[in-house]
Amino acid sequence: MNVFVTGGAGYIGSVCVEELLNAGHVVTVFDNLTEGHRSAVDPRAKFVLGDLADRELVARALTDARAEAVIHFAAHALVGESMQNPGKYFRNNVANGLNLLDAAVAARVRKFVFSSTCATYGVPEKMPMDESLPQLPVNPYGESKLMFEKMLLWYRQLHGLEFVAFRYFNAAGASKKFGEHHRIETHLIPNVLKVALGQKEQCEIFGTNYPTPDGTCIRDYIHIVDLAQAHILALAPGRAGFFNLGNGSGYSVREVIHACERISGQPIKSIEQPRRAGDPPRLVAAADKAFKELDWQPKFPKLEAIVATAWDWHKRHPQGYRD
Ligand code: UFG
Repeated sequence: MNVFVTGGAGYIGSVCVEELLNAGHVVTVFDNLTEGHRSAVDPRAKFVLGDLADRELVARALTDARAEAVIHFAAHALVGESMQNPGKYFRNNVANGLNLLDAAVAARVRKFVFSSTCATYGVPEKMPMDESLPQLPVNPYGESKLMFEKMLLWYRQLHGLEFVAFRYFNAAGASKKFGEHHRIETHLIPNVLKVALGQKEQCEIFGTNYPTPDGTCIRDYIHIVDLAQAHILALAPGRAGFFNLGNGSGYSVREVIHACERISGQPIKSIEQPRRAGDPPRLVAAADKAFKELDWQPKFPKLEAIVATAWDWHKRHPQGYRD
């Protein structure tokens, strides 16, 4: 298929583009490079530098790409930042995203695949979390993604736009070529690995008094190559709706630090800090729906295997991407 990928220069997008190309699809990447990196775009893809705020450019790029499917990664995605600057999240993730949605309808795109998040559930009442749980976000990031999910439902009903929305748990790991490099790094695994690389003296643990066995937050880490595979499965005709993507195993912040120590062979110093605003204590997926309906099967279900791929990439790219 001709696939138009927004945010294809970002962390998850770059690996998905690589896997789409390996599967024989023709890919156009649309990215403003505020979060992404030009060198993270697979050279086999066409690249368009552009911002989703530019309605005409989005529409033109989509038509030029003869897009049959759109995969929409481009977004701001930091829970903590969204608590400081909610407007940034609603403007980019909702208002700018709407330009893409309208352009997709006008271009008669057959399938729209959207990057949503488990942050749409808020503090879940049941664990592990399936797709039927109430969605009550506790941060503007999760709210902005939920708003987009709702727009998708209306666009399906009123314009016939078929969609798959993936609620990602915590993306982690790397492919051989592409890995995680944010200009300001706030994510746990890359920050812990910076200590192992000798680039930071210590990592921080945000909150040690959560109602979890060791007092630190629990997350479900899912390998980005496994996430990418789900997107490829979603392009097949008839696949539609909302799907959680996670492994179903939760690991605490302290367990992640220990896994990084074992994989890197380095001791990792940490300091305890207060809680970070907007963080739910525990997020673990029940992803049975994706297993059954998409025939999705993660290849990296264990945290250590995920961390090993991240460590391998960071060792080979200690400064990340150069641009
Ligand atoms: N954490 C630390 N120290 C750090 C960084 C993070 O203790 O240096 C903690 C956080 O407080 C949280 C956990 O580690 O409890 C994971 O934090 P991340 O920042 O790595 O990831 P988040 O769970 O906050 O968010 C990520 C993505 C979101 C996505 C979400 C789904 O950034 O886009 O996963 O859970 F929605």
